[in-house]
Amino acid sequence: MNYLNSKLNFKEVPSGKVGWRSPSNIALLKYWGKKAVQLPSNASLSFTLQESLTETVVKFFPTSGKNFNLKFYLDGIHNDIFAEKISTFFKALVDIFPFINQLGFKIHSKNTFPHSVGIASSASGMSAIALTLCEIERKYFNTFSSNDEFFQKASYIARLGSGSACRSLYGGLVSWGEIEGIESSSNLYGSKLILNIKPVFETYQDSILIVDSTQKKVSSRFGHELMNSNPLSNKRFEQANNNIQRLLSVISSGDLVEFVKIVESEALTLHAMMMTSNPYFILMKPNTISIINSIWEFREETEIPVCFSLDAGPNIHLLYPHENKDQVIAFINSELLKFTNNNTVIHDKVGSGPEKLEL
Ligand code: PMV
Repeated sequence: MNYLNSKLNFKEVPSGKVGWRSPSNIALLKYWGKKAVQLPSNASLSFTLQESLTETVVKFFPTSGKNFNLKFYLDGIHNDIFAEKISTFFKALVDIFPFINQLGFKIHSKNTFPHSVGIASSASGMSAIALTLCEIERKYFNTFSSNDEFFQKASYIARLGSGSACRSLYGGLVSWGEIEGIESSSNLYGSKLILNIKPVFETYQDSILIVDSTQKKVSSRFGHELMNSNPLSNKRFEQANNNIQRLLSVISSGDLVEFVKIVESEALTLHAMMMTSNPYFILMKPNTISIINSIWEFREETEIPVCFSLDAGPNIHLLYPHENKDQVIAFINSELLKFTNNNTVIHDKVGSGPEKLEL
């Protein structure tokens, strides 16, 4: 793992551009609470998504100026807030990528989902940025002996930007954090789950119901921090590590009844941790609860194994097997759309991971 922290030898980097498209992910097993430098307090596991993507092109040019020169454009529009965030992130990475100090940057980023709808774009955004930095290293320093090394470093870098982003570097099911019995798992980066995975999980659907698109009042950063003083946190970390073992056996057995129980319990526990923090807070909205109740009724009536997950926000991820797609979409249209903001639903599914842009 030396390459992660060792300085690259000095080398002139000419002007150029690199680009990557990277997906968002939805955690089945939640990461909430962290230690030291973005290390998770418990292991997590997610589905990488297929349609919710960020596309980032980084143009770079040699600069001799003393001032850090980085411009950030979101959907073609100059964005000072992101420019500042990414500048801070880049400066913190100078030990890993010394070429950052030799270059100026113009970054163009766009999401395939409207950024105003309240879907977390940090996982797709940070993983795309991490990939572009590793791409510059690969192109001019030729340091990676394999694709595996390339993606592992990209995941490590993405983690430093936003913890959950480190799971967006691979398709399918991705874990982050040490898991007993899984040797490839690490706190430092995400890993593709290598396991006997039942085919149903390779085509799982995720319809994202946008309940509220206003900016949330409590940042994830603050939420994680509050876990340090939450009296229930140690029990929660213990529970998460148990749940991950249960989920791993479900993924191999295909027991969807058990899958539903674990995934919904994880989503509600995440929000329970918010409600038991000091200060306490609630990110769910009344319509979030209305949707949950409708899902429970629909599941009881039809026995279709549809379940919900939640991020740190009010929006619902409706997860279901591909074979139930028609019935679930009919259910969404007739029963759930009325609880969403402007009938906004994004039909997504398990995806195959990031792609390099040919520029
Ligand atoms: O990656 P962060 O720091 O934005 O944390 C997000 C954590 C959750 O989305 C709530 C859960 C998860 O594991 O993705």
